[in-house]
Amino acid sequence: MNKKNTIFTITLSRNTLPPYEREQRLKTIRFGRVFTDHMAVLTYRNGTWQDAEIKAYGPLSLDPASSVLHYGQAVFEGFKAYRQPDNSICLFRPDANAERFNRSAQRLAMPQIPKELFIEASEALVSIDRDWVPSGPGESLYLRPFMIAIDPFLGVQPSKDYMFVLIASPAGEYFSQGIKPVNVWVSKDYVRAAPGGTGEAKCAGNYAASLLAQAEAKKQDCDQVIWLDATQREVIEEMGGMNLFFVYRLRGRSLVVTPALTGTLLAGITRSTLLTLAVEMGMDTYERTLTITEVLHDLESGAITEVFACGTAAVITPVGRIKGPGFDQIVNGGVNGPVAMGLRELLLGLQRGTLPDQHGWLHRVALD
Ligand code: PLP
Ligand code: COI
Repeated sequence: MNKKNTIFTITLSRNTLPPYEREQRLKTIRFGRVFTDHMAVLTYRNGTWQDAEIKAYGPLSLDPASSVLHYGQAVFEGFKAYRQPDNSICLFRPDANAERFNRSAQRLAMPQIPKELFIEASEALVSIDRDWVPSGPGESLYLRPFMIAIDPFLGVQPSKDYMFVLIASPAGEYFSQGIKPVNVWVSKDYVRAAPGGTGEAKCAGNYAASLLAQAEAKKQDCDQVIWLDATQREVIEEMGGMNLFFVYRLRGRSLVVTPALTGTLLAGITRSTLLTLAVEMGMDTYERTLTITEVLHDLESGAITEVFACGTAAVITPVGRIKGPGFDQIVNGGVNGPVAMGLRELLLGLQRGTLPDQHGWLHRVALD
């Protein structure tokens, strides 16, 4: 294995899973439960990133006063490595994730990590744990970088020191039911983000704050929450962990609409990818304000033919039913729609290297 071109000190795990057991774990993969043998760790002290290491996956040692444990100064990312037809491995748009990581860090008053270092950590980890990259349809290795504040200090202020950690998890379908439409609950009691808040950042607190609404959705027999704007509770923003698309059929043509980036929703990389791919499939695309009243009306009239959600973990997931206080609307007869499934096939083909990468979105990992 090539270790000389990396600034990471590599200490191989003495407990790597035997190949047979790894294969067993890769047979039944779901999302986010199984992790590879190694992780990447860097620390930020005295204004610089240092001690870059790849080492055995395992518990982190943290001072109980670490400010992340009290005030939640933490950001994260999610992107994937895909097995290619020639058995090589590619990351999908890691530069976009590195840029968003730094935008999130900036919002949380945390330091920037050079894009090259972020990508090098991913390459080094994927290269060492290459046997964990699955090759089945819909499968990938999910990469989860995160940064936490580690100053042992209870004063409320930005930490001086930070830890960056990258872990990896073989991933199958995000939803346990596979690619079947999800039921979604429109939350009017809770909001995810407000103007001037952290909605645009991928910070841990946003997800903690979503859990109660998620539990409310479960009680309503729904899988996910649709978030509305904080002021009017009318404008559709996104789902927990996914952006939303609405497919309209007008004069024999499909067009797709997705909520505009207002600062209170995450600028999804899948969202941006699909906006490009939809145009290439011959559809018009719009980024604009959409209200729940208008969407319910357009579903009722048949102007909206499909709704789907997209994100790295969930890829593209059709929405089959939209419920909320006082409404319950089936979408597209509760089945997968052709636009969502067509875009999904195209996206997975690009990521898996079975379609040409005309946009330079694939980043090949050096596996010597
Ligand atoms: N919205 C939220 C709140 C998310 O957590 C995610 C997942 O990363 C997305 C949208 C989709 O973003 P992406 O396509 O970059 O994964
Ligand atoms: C992702 O799609 O990468 C996400 O971060 C969504 C969710 C698992 C938090």
